[in-house]
Order: sequence, then C-alpha cells, then structure tokens
Amino acid sequence: MKVLVLGSGAREHALVRALTLDPTVAAIIVAPGNPGTDALALNEPVDAADPDAVLELAQRHDVDLVVIGPEAPLVGGVADVLREAGVRCFGPGAQAARLEGSKAYAKEVMAAAEVPTAMAHVCSTQEQLAEALDSFGAPFVVKDDGLAAGKGVVVTDDREEAMEHGLACLAKGDDARVVIEEFLDGPEASLFCLCDGERVVPLDLAQDFKRVFDGDEGPNTGGMGAYSPLTWAPEGLVDDVVARVAQPVVDEMARRGTPFVGVLYVGLALTSRGTRVIEFNVRFGDPETQSVLARLESPLAVLLAAAADGRLDEHDPLRWRPESAVTVVLAAEGYPASPITGVGIDGLEELAAGALAEHVHVLHAGTVLDTGGEAPQLVSSGGRVLSVVALGEDLVAARDHAYEAVGRIDFPGSHHRTDIALRASRGEIRVQ
Ligand code: AMP
Ligand code: GLY
Repeated sequence: MKVLVLGSGAREHALVRALTLDPTVAAIIVAPGNPGTDALALNEPVDAADPDAVLELAQRHDVDLVVIGPEAPLVGGVADVLREAGVRCFGPGAQAARLEGSKAYAKEVMAAAEVPTAMAHVCSTQEQLAEALDSFGAPFVVKDDGLAAGKGVVVTDDREEAMEHGLACLAKGDDARVVIEEFLDGPEASLFCLCDGERVVPLDLAQDFKRVFDGDEGPNTGGMGAYSPLTWAPEGLVDDVVARVAQPVVDEMARRGTPFVGVLYVGLALTSRGTRVIEFNVRFGDPETQSVLARLESPLAVLLAAAADGRLDEHDPLRWRPESAVTVVLAAEGYPASPITGVGIDGLEELAAGALAEHVHVLHAGTVLDTGGEAPQLVSSGGRVLSVVALGEDLVAARDHAYEAVGRIDFPGSHHRTDIALRASRGEIRVQ
C-alpha cells in the first residue's frame, strides 16, 4: 500500500512510524510533515487543509489510502473531496466532523443517542451566559463552541474569569456560542474508537495531561503527556464505552445520513456518578496516540484501510505489546500563551544511537531543520516541540526511560511536566 498522511505534528510522526512497521506498506507520503517524518517518508509541502491540493497530491502519487491527522482538514471537508473522487480515506466527512467542530452539535447528537454526558447550556448572549454560570455554580466549565486547538476550555472557581472567557468566545462573531457545563469530577480517560460507518473497534485506553504544569496547575494546553494502558481503569470500561457511547453515536450518525468513518475519540470522566463523556474529537488525540501506537502490534495500515472500506467486521482481534508506554511532551518556553521559537535542539542523534533507544523514540512536532548555517541545525518552530515516547515493563520503568531521555535532550528554555503517569505508577488513582 501507498499511504498519504496529512498533518505535521507528533501524532502524525507516530502514525508514520507505526505505518513503517506494517509490512503491507510500501511507501508513505506526508503533507506537510516535519523533520521527523522526513527521515521515514516523503514529505510534500502541501497544505493539508486545502482539499484540491490534497486530492491532486493523492492522485499524483496514486495512493491507496489517505489518513487525516488533524481536525482542521476534517472539519474543512477534505475527506469528502477525496471520497467523491474515489480516493480511499480514513477520516470523517465535514458533517460528521462537526462532532468535534461544534460542541453544541456534539451535545445534540449525544442527547439523541442517549449518551451520558455533562448537563450543558448553549449560550449566545451575555445574559444567558450569566444565568448558566449561576445555575451550575463553581467550579465553572466554559467552552468555546468552535475549534480552539485544545485551548478553548476554561475550568475555574473564579466567576469573573469564567465570565471573561465566555464573553471572549461570544465576541468571536455574530453567531458565536459558548457552552457552559456542569463540572465533572473524577479521573479522565481517552478511548480511540475506530469506526467504519457502522462498526466500532476500540483501541486501548490512555490518559492525557491537559494542564501545563505539574499537579494539573496552570492553563489547558493541547496536551503535555500521556500514558497507556490505564492500570487503574475498571474492568469492562472499554466494552461499556463502546456499548453506551461509541456504537450509539455511530448508529445515530448513520441514521442522519452522515456516517462516521475514522477515529471517534471519546474523552471520558469517570465520575462518582458514573462514566460521562467530556468531549468528542474526530481524530486521533495528541499526545495519547504517541503512547497508544507505541503499544499496537497489529498492522496499522491494514486496520485503517478496513475502516475506510467499511470492513472492520473482517478484521482480526487487535494485538498489543505487553509493555506500558509513557509520552512526555517538551514544550517551548512561553507555551501555551506565547511560545518562543527558533531555539536550537541538540542531543537527538546521540539518543537514537545510544542504549536508551531500545526503549525510547522521539517524535517531532514543532521543529524545522535550519539549513542556512555550516551544518544543518534542528530548531523549534512551535509550542509543543517534541514527544519523548518510552516503553517499559510497567509504568514505573516507562517513566524512568522517558525522563532519562528527556534529560539528554538539549533544548534551552523548554519545559515539560515531571509527573506524567506518576500517580498511576504509584497506584494512587481511584475511581469512585
Ligand atoms: P475539552 O476540550 O472539552 O476536552 O476540555 C478540555 C479539558 O477541560 C478536559 O480534558 C477536562 O480536563 C476539562 N473539562 C472539560 N469539560 C469538563 C467538565 N464538564 N468538568 C470538568 N472538567 C472539564
Ligand atoms: N489530547 C487531546 C486532544 O488531542 O485533543
């Protein structure tokens, strides 16, 4: 198979890496990719969110499968254009992608499919906003209705801050809306469900760390780290989420004439009152994918092609490595508010050549190769810059490997969380 992967982050680097391990994959093209994918595949400087440019690229390379990484091309209808032209594509069309593109739409579908989620009010005026905040009380959960790269949600005890974020969301346009939700307590989990329009095949659970600082302090980010599996998850959780969330949503989307083909990312809170959906995304999560795919043994291209073809029922049961995986994100100084870019990164080659490489791989996100100097130099170009992914016999070992590798990377000013998977590795996470 020839596979085209769209996107440029560490998630896409993880996808490309997993695809290289699938013996049915003969070639991989990435648009636009990053210096990490460049080492494994052919990077093509094409805008992943431009449907015509992507179609031209797919046809020029005569690819057998397109895998869409980020949400923007999905919400922008790239999958529709590809499928209409007869190009096999893993990723939902624009209508189905609204499950992520509009939090209000996701709530509507959840209500129709009777999926357990937080109670919510969708507000379009300041008065409605004030009323909704007061009806739920603190902690306040305020969500931008539209896409916001994981940064559109504010959870706070401070009513003024909640109001301020709500008003900022409403100021985005005449039809802007903001969603106010009841606060969900309990640990969070992410489940990626592969869907073929009718059927659902779940991957393994992962947990993401959204806040920027240790101890879940500071603002939300795109994600600062992740681990898998969830040693603390109640038995049967995956089956339960498929039965009560993913399958009913896939059925509802099919009923609406907008079948869901791709990853339905179910973000869950395991609350004292039961499992609730926090959010849907319509793609692989970043950085959970880095940990989940590090453990997947089944050939990825075969699996994604089966989903794209509506043939998931024919797929063999998934196989997983027995190890645990921990991913630590290295972020640029100033991330998430205002990341400083253009900083040199060193130590990756030594890491890849050393003994730690048996357990660790480094995935690129916000990096570029500066070829203007005497020797090419890797420099930062974004907020989340690298994902350091480690496997170990358990979470303690995986954490040790990951943080040892982080310590060997020379990236001035960068910051990372030091507590990824820490509580889980100590057995401190409890579901009530
Ligand atoms: P979202 O973009 O909807 O996933 O929200 C980002 C993060 O905000 C989630 O991962 C949670 O940590 C937090 N969050 C969102 N909704 C709620 C809620 N209803 N109660 C508590 N925390 C929430
Ligand atoms: N890890 C959260 C996300 O991908 O949205």
